[in-house]
Amino acid sequence: MDYQRPELITYIRENFKLDWHGTHGANHWARVLHHSKVIGEHRGADLLVVELFGFLHDSCRENEYQDPGHGKRAAELARELNQTYFDLKPTQMQNLCYAIEHHSGGEVSVDATIQTCWDGDRLDLGRVGIVPSAKYLSPQATQLIDLAVVMSMKKTTL
Ligand SMILES: [Fe+2]
Repeated sequence: MDYQRPELITYIRENFKLDWHGTHGANHWARVLHHSKVIGEHRGADLLVVELFGFLHDSCRENEYQDPGHGKRAAELARELNQTYFDLKPTQMQNLCYAIEHHSGGEVSVDATIQTCWDGDRLDLGRVGIVPSAKYLSPQATQLIDLAVVMSMKKTTL
């Protein structure tokens, strides 16, 4: 089965409870995807897992604030959607679900795919007035902090 990106996005949009154009909506995801693909190519990350993280990690948010359960809910959704819109192997699912469930816990990972997911998300903190800290980023992501802050403050993608 091929990865069905448009159908996946339609599903997520139909079920998204918040403002599609809000702080944790599609424009944020687009910047996360942009950053994490650039980093992931350099680091040899699994780019399909990285892309699915971008679309899914905030998809089950119920508010724009802390919402401590949103990562766990999104990981459950990823498990439900596997073999419908994408077809990941068990190790890919394990990495995707771990990255989603723990994306807001402040962890760092030695796994290139998991850390790349978190790098992409953390690099977009400028949209809420926070300059990303190198402490939580890979060296490749750290080099992108200045560019990412400009993009997130202007709320644009390249
Ligand atoms: Fe996010």
